[in-house]
Amino acid sequence: MPFTIAIDGPAASGKGTIAKALSRRFGFHHLDTGLLYRAVGAKGGDPLETARSLTARDLQRPDLRSNEAGQAASRVAIIPEVRLALVEFQRRFAIQEPGAVLDGRDIGTVICPNADLKLYVIASDEVRARRRASEIGADPAETLAALQERDARDQERETAPLRPADNAVILDTTEMSITEAVTDAVRLVIARRKGDGKLT
Ligand code: DC
Repeated sequence: MPFTIAIDGPAASGKGTIAKALSRRFGFHHLDTGLLYRAVGAKGGDPLETARSLTARDLQRPDLRSNEAGQAASRVAIIPEVRLALVEFQRRFAIQEPGAVLDGRDIGTVICPNADLKLYVIASDEVRARRRASEIGADPAETLAALQERDARDQERETAPLRPADNAVILDTTEMSITEAVTDAVRLVIARRKGDGKLT
């Protein structure tokens, strides 16, 4: 049975970094599901048509990391039919051997409700804005406003809003370095895998 890790949380909370590190450490597949929504938003046209015909190439656009692409993603992510069009791909990705890590907003609640481990990664607004601004070379104040606007939209939408799954472990990375956050997450995976009879 593949081991599935669901990581959710607000923008720039550190979930992508943790997801990447876990996939490397355990040799699991990794999917940044935000990229799917960013690609749909950035491509334009009818969002539903775009979501239904998304290709691997669409996910490689160089402009997907910008604040604008994030806003566009959050806007198309409100549309229930767009979300539905992306469900099957994510669920198939999640059950690959030997395991998969998916990060996003609704992985533990909607996409993989039976994930072996669910993490909900948070950090203060200021810390998240500082991290994201330095990552993409944007203004911190503008980035803070953009993150807050996006979080509000992601949390308040009717379909698959951003919220922790009932059985998610909350990881607050505000005061943590990347290494500390990853170490904590690795420990949680190992503990959960031991419960499944695996040694590491
Ligand atoms: O993780 P990210 O910042 O790249 O996500 C961009 C936007 O995509 C986010 O503001 C909301 C949407 N999103 C979503 O609705 N569900 C997901 N699983 C991932 C992202």
